[in-house]
Amino acid sequence: MRLKVNGKVYSIKVDEDKPLLWVLREDLKLKGTKFGCGKGICGSCTVVVNGEAVRSCITPVKAVNGKDILTIEGIPESHPIKRAWIELQVPQCGYCQPGKIMEAYALLNRNPSPSREEILSVMSTHLCRCGTYPRILKAILKASELMGVEK
Ligand code: FES
Ligand code: FES
Repeated sequence: MRLKVNGKVYSIKVDEDKPLLWVLREDLKLKGTKFGCGKGICGSCTVVVNGEAVRSCITPVKAVNGKDILTIEGIPESHPIKRAWIELQVPQCGYCQPGKIMEAYALLNRNPSPSREEILSVMSTHLCRCGTYPRILKAILKASELMGVEK
């Protein structure tokens, strides 16, 4: 398989039904994408594929062969989303946050100025045991504002 992850092309031999999550973590050693439920429910494993947020725990790697895959490692520290996350000190334990950031990245790519309601609706499909939901909402609004400033 040829996987394009964070702009780098990897040629790997792997079971084509293996979930993308485990290919990223075990075969490519990209450990930023997290395992939560393994059933597509919690959102911890979210990555961006061709601009869309995808739950990598239920995505067989064959489904993303040749597509553009972006993981948390591929978003620069200077990106408005990461800056907003740091400025607002969003994480508590931090475990779920890569998935949240990737979902937020896909959302802001689709719509750089989402309404509060749209953010809440999209992020309602993600679970955080530490209850960081209010800070996530504020951080996405902040990132949107920063993106506006940088246009
Ligand atoms: S680990 Fe993939 S959705 Fe929970
Ligand atoms: S920050 Fe701990 S689970 Fe979300």
